[in-house]
Amino acid sequence: MREQLEKIKKEALKQIQSSEALETLNEIRVSYLGKKGELTNLLKSMKDVAPEERPKVGQMVNDARTAIESCLEEAKAVLGRKAREEQLKKEVIDVTLPGKKRKTGHSHPNTIALEEVERIFIGMGYEVVEGPEVEYDHYNFEKLNIPKGHPARDEQDTFYINDRILLRSQTSPVQIRTMEKGKLPIRMIAPGRVFRSDEVDATHSPSFHQIEGLVIDKNITFADLKGTLAEFAKELFGPETKVKFRPHHFPFTEPSAEVDVTCFKCGGRGCRFCKGSGWIEILGCGMVHPHVLEMCGIDPDEYSGFAFGVGLERIALLKYEIDDMRLLYENDIRFLKQF
Ligand code: DAH
Repeated sequence: MREQLEKIKKEALKQIQSSEALETLNEIRVSYLGKKGELTNLLKSMKDVAPEERPKVGQMVNDARTAIESCLEEAKAVLGRKAREEQLKKEVIDVTLPGKKRKTGHSHPNTIALEEVERIFIGMGYEVVEGPEVEYDHYNFEKLNIPKGHPARDEQDTFYINDRILLRSQTSPVQIRTMEKGKLPIRMIAPGRVFRSDEVDATHSPSFHQIEGLVIDKNITFADLKGTLAEFAKELFGPETKVKFRPHHFPFTEPSAEVDVTCFKCGGRGCRFCKGSGWIEILGCGMVHPHVLEMCGIDPDEYSGFAFGVGLERIALLKYEIDDMRLLYENDIRFLKQF
């Protein structure tokens, strides 16, 4: 039995020392020390050992077990260390490699122009409000004094969703929504996307942006409108800028006007930019029609107001001297980076 024990121990240690994987070590442990392992089997034959020999043999079996166990532990530690070292070698970071450059984003010319317009009006005490892009015909037309069959509807080729709902063709419905809330006085601008079924060309797009303005208070006159827009034009295009009001017609304002500014390229002398006229058209405006006030529950004998509507792309194209609106929607980084 002693020989057998020696043999088992020797064989086990040899196997342990030559094993190269943690799993193999585990298999060895099971095959020697496990329930059906060789050493355990040997213990079962203790009954054949003479009783006086048993303590001694028992001690020997225990010693062999301890020797195998500690050899296993040691081999495990060695293999573990080796595995860690290999892992570290694989995960080495070359700190001399060039870093990845993150590209910083850039504001779109529309955004820059919008922020400029907002800054000017916020400075005059206006609030910035928003309205829905999917709008009721009722707000987009009806309450703006454009009933069914009105010729002004034909000027704005509208995308209808059904006979009550459409994609707003102008930001003017936000005026109605604001007035209906009933909180007076009002001093607001409403920037946003609008939609018209237009063919794409250098000056048209089926989707573009407008900025609506509305002021309602007691004793608001056309002089307030003129002063406000003159100030806006100076802030936007430079202190020398002059404005000109040309009579026009919008169904929701009376009187109505279109506003031109002196060409900021030639100062009004006439150039290629303003097509020789010295003036550039920038917006539509007027005094809010008494009927519109009434439809929104505001007494036109007590309150009056003015409104205006600017095309955002038009401002961006003028300010940054871009001659094709399509450039604004292509999102070509080489183009956008210039502003
Ligand atoms: N909504 C008009 C359009 O799209 C622009 C406009 C003109 C708005 C005059 C106004 C205004 O508020 O008073 O053509």
